[in-house]
Amino acid sequence: MDKKITFGSHFGTIAAVGGSVIGLGNIWRFPYLVGSSGGSAFLIVYILCSLLIAVPIMMSELLLGRHTRSNPFGAFRKLSEYKIWSMVGLLGIITVFCIFAFYSVVAGWAISFFKTAIFEGFTGHSSQEISSNFKQYINTGWQPSLAALIFIVLTAGVVIGGIKKGIERINKILMPVLLVIIVGLFIYSFSLDGFSQAMNFLLQPDFSKIGINTIFAAFGQAFFSMSLGMGAMIAYGAYVRPETSIPRLTLTIALADLTIALLAGFAIFPGVFTYGIEPTSGPTLIFETLPLVFSMMPAGNFIGIIFFFLVFIAAITSSVSMLEPIVQFVMQELNATRAKAVVFISTLIGIAAVLCAYSQVENSSLIVFGENIFDFLNDATAKFSMPIGAFLIVIFTGWVVQKDIVYKQITNDGRHSNSLYFYYRMLLRYFIPAVLGVFILTTLFN
Ligand code: PFF
Repeated sequence: MDKKITFGSHFGTIAAVGGSVIGLGNIWRFPYLVGSSGGSAFLIVYILCSLLIAVPIMMSELLLGRHTRSNPFGAFRKLSEYKIWSMVGLLGIITVFCIFAFYSVVAGWAISFFKTAIFEGFTGHSSQEISSNFKQYINTGWQPSLAALIFIVLTAGVVIGGIKKGIERINKILMPVLLVIIVGLFIYSFSLDGFSQAMNFLLQPDFSKIGINTIFAAFGQAFFSMSLGMGAMIAYGAYVRPETSIPRLTLTIALADLTIALLAGFAIFPGVFTYGIEPTSGPTLIFETLPLVFSMMPAGNFIGIIFFFLVFIAAITSSVSMLEPIVQFVMQELNATRAKAVVFISTLIGIAAVLCAYSQVENSSLIVFGENIFDFLNDATAKFSMPIGAFLIVIFTGWVVQKDIVYKQITNDGRHSNSLYFYYRMLLRYFIPAVLGVFILTTLFN
């Protein structure tokens, strides 16, 4: 890989990194977790996790990438003489592969719902019909598989174009569109009767609801939403320009991620409350609950089309950042061309995605540790691979990488604030390893 390839502009960098973090995590996962994990109680823990834990981890990943200009595996190999560290990069690459597999199934649902919204609409269907239609769709196996494959091909099409002409370009076009749509939906939701109820649900803290489950869910979500613990940000860090301030970029992205998640919450819950629906349905919230809302609301079909288009945009700008680290790895470590790497990896992911989709068919035998493959990958990556990967990345950056490399990357050779560097280093070396260590041990013993 040409070491000089970087993002072309500051806006391009923000759009690409923002495109990675803003995804189904904000529009699909965050709302259902808020809905099923105690509303604002979850939100408070989530904000704390984002600022104190996720932000320093993202800074670490970006700096490892920018310093080495390497894929996640190569970054560890270059910075330590102990080969074992490069296994952390490999774990990341495997994790991101697993996430891409189930992610593309959900993105495929969005494509199918977009099609339904255009050609059939949601009006005139009862809640039972909507829910049974969704189950029927899942139970065909082939329909969600096909949709997932279409999504993977589209992602591959972008990544084959390379960094500037593929990934950066698509993000520069789609991220502003995403912003306009989500603000538009938010403004529309404002006019619904359930808006104030949604405000209370999202913003009135009820500390009694903060339990160990809320904390765990918030941790997993912070990693997922900020694309952390699997090297995606190491891969993108490799394309960050030398003059970009990593702390400033990270804070901008964290703020954007949180704002979009909240806007998605405000776009979704008013409708849910207006029509007296329970917000606790879990992962199918936006696919079972929302179509019902669209079926009842004025101009619901049109809103439905826009909404599922939004979900698709959010998904594809993230999925390119899942494919890129794996492609970067195959290109740099196995000397393949970009085109060959993309075709090879996408084929493997396609197979994994089809397995995920078929594992959701009723009575499927595609079960791992008592869960279907889809749920297993969703849970295992959030509970184990991402936190463990993040823990090891933090230990590596805080204790193994030479101090002056970290200092130079964070302060751009001493040109930016030193005090920020001090806080970053404290969090990185002591606070985060302690918190993550407790988190991982508790999860393992549960
Ligand atoms: N951050 C993305 C989202 O919120 O949907 C998900 C994601 C992207 C996870 C990239 C992992 C990754 F490497």
